[in-house]
Amino acid sequence: MAKVKFEHLFSPLQVGPMRVPNRICEPTNSINASMAPGTFDEHFVAHHAGKAWGGTGWIGSETWLLDSPFPPEAADEVGLPVGFASHYPIYEGPGFAETLAKFYAEVHRAGAVAVAQLTHLSAVWSPSEIPVIGAQDYTPHAVGEEEIEFFFNTYVKAATVAKNAGADGIEIHCAHETLCYCFLSPVTNRRTDRWGGGPQERIRFVVGVLERVRKTIGDKLALGIRMSGHEFRQGGYDLLQMREMLYYIGETGLINFVDIDVGHCWGAPSYVPSSYYGHAEFREAGKAARADLDPKIAVMFTGRINDPVVAEDLIKDGYCDLVGMARAGISDPEFANKAREGRLSEIRRCISCTRCIDEAAEPLTLPYKPRCSINPLVGNEVRWKQHYRPAESPKRVVVVGGGLAGCEAARVAAMRGHKVTLLEQGKRLGGQLLIAMKAPGRDDFEDQVYFEENELERLGVDVRLQTNADVAAIKALSPDAVVIWSRAGR
Ligand SMILES: Cc1cc2nc3c(=O)[nH]c(=O)nc-3n(C[C@H](O)[C@H](O)[C@H](O)COP(=O)(O)O)c2cc1C
Repeated sequence: MAKVKFEHLFSPLQVGPMRVPNRICEPTNSINASMAPGTFDEHFVAHHAGKAWGGTGWIGSETWLLDSPFPPEAADEVGLPVGFASHYPIYEGPGFAETLAKFYAEVHRAGAVAVAQLTHLSAVWSPSEIPVIGAQDYTPHAVGEEEIEFFFNTYVKAATVAKNAGADGIEIHCAHETLCYCFLSPVTNRRTDRWGGGPQERIRFVVGVLERVRKTIGDKLALGIRMSGHEFRQGGYDLLQMREMLYYIGETGLINFVDIDVGHCWGAPSYVPSSYYGHAEFREAGKAARADLDPKIAVMFTGRINDPVVAEDLIKDGYCDLVGMARAGISDPEFANKAREGRLSEIRRCISCTRCIDEAAEPLTLPYKPRCSINPLVGNEVRWKQHYRPAESPKRVVVVGGGLAGCEAARVAAMRGHKVTLLEQGKRLGGQLLIAMKAPGRDDFEDQVYFEENELERLGVDVRLQTNADVAAIKALSPDAVVIWSRAGR
C-alpha cells in the first residue's frame, strides 16, 4: 500500500517572526501536568515537552491565569473554586521565570516553538453584569476604567516574563469564557461607552491588550489571539460577525496568527467536543476566519481533529494553515512522528470521551494527577522514563484478560522484549470497550480496540481468544510471570 505523504502537514510555516517547523500544534490545554502547582516541574516538562519530542511543532502547554483586581467584598461574594479567577500573579513568583526558561529551552531542543497563552477568565469581572452562562451562580462585576488599566498591565507583566524566558509567541485568550471573549460577544458586552456597541467598539479591549503586548514584546515574537468562530447562542455572534471583528483586528497589523475554535466552557457545543460531534465538525469556522484576513496572518483551526489524515486534508482544502490537536497529543504524544514515518496504525487516536477535561475542570485536589482513559502514560511520564527500558533478561509472560488493561500490560511487556501470551475468554479483545462502543455517538471507542489489536500483532504477542485462563491452561505455558487483574489488589 502506498505510504501517505502528509506534504502539507510537515511543511514549515513562517508565522510573523516565528518559524513553525510543521503545521501540528498543541493548542493550550491546562491539564494540570505539574505536580507542584504554578511551576514547570519535571512532570510538566515531561508531559508538554514530550509532545515536542514526539514531533508536534508548536507547544502551547498550559494557560497563564492573570492577576485580577478582586473587589473588596470578594471573599464572601465570589467563593469560586480554584481556577476560575486568579489573584495570585504566579508568573511574578520566585522561581517561575527560571523554570519556565528551562521548559522553553527543552521545547527548543526538541525542535518546536513555545507559545504562552495569557488568560483572564470572566467570572469576577466582565464588560457588563451578565452571568457568563447558566452554570455559574454568580454575576460578574462590570469593569470600570480603572480595572481596564489594571487588566492591560497584567498582560504586559506576563508577556514580559514570557519574552524574557524565551517564548516564541504569545496568544491572548479571547475565546471560551474569558474577559476578552466577553468584550467581543454582544451577549455579554452591553456597554454604551467606547468599549461596547458594534464590532469595531467591541474589539477595542482586545486591540488595547494587543497594542500593549506588542509594544512589550517588539517584533521578535509572534502575537495572536484565540477566538471563538461562532457563538451558537441566542444573540451571539455568528461566522459573518466573527469575520468582521477579525478583519478589523487583523487590519491593526498587530497579530501574526489567529487560533479559531468553537464552543463554550459550560454550554453546548463544548470547546472540547466529545465523540458526539463529527471530526473537525466546525471546520467552516477556520475557512471563514481565513476569508478576509491578510494572507500573512496564519489561521489555526482546532476542534476534534484526532487524525493526521484529517489534519492534512484541512490544510490542503484551505480550512486553515495550522491544525490544533490537543487531545490527539494527550492520547499519543508521538503521533506526529508516527505520521511522518508512515506508522499510522501505531497511532493511538483520541476517542473524545472528554475525561481529560472533565477531571481537569473539577475543583482540584492538589497535587492533581492528569488522566486519559486510553493512555496510561498521562500523569506518569516521569515514572515511565525511569522504568521503561528493555528487559535485561526476557521472560515468558502470560497476561490474563484482553480488556484494555490486559492489552496494555501485554503491549508494554512485549515492547520491553518479553515473550507474551495473552489469554482472553471472549471472541475479541477490548473488554468493556466492546460494550461502550455500541452506544450512539461512541463509535470512536472502537479505535482503541483496533489500536490494541494492531499493536499486539505488530509486537508478536501470542493472543489466544476464546481461551479460558484456568490454572491448567496457565501452567501449560510455563510462565515466568503472570499478569492478572485482581479487585483485591486495587
Ligand atoms: C484538559 C484540557 C484543558 C484545556 N485547557 C485549555 C486552556 O487552558 N486554554 C484554552 O484555550 N483551551 C484549553 N483547552 C482546549 C483545547 O485547546 C482545544 O481547543 C480542545 O481540546 C479541542 O481540541 P482537540 O479536539 O484537539 O482536543 C483544553 C482542553 C483540554 C482537553
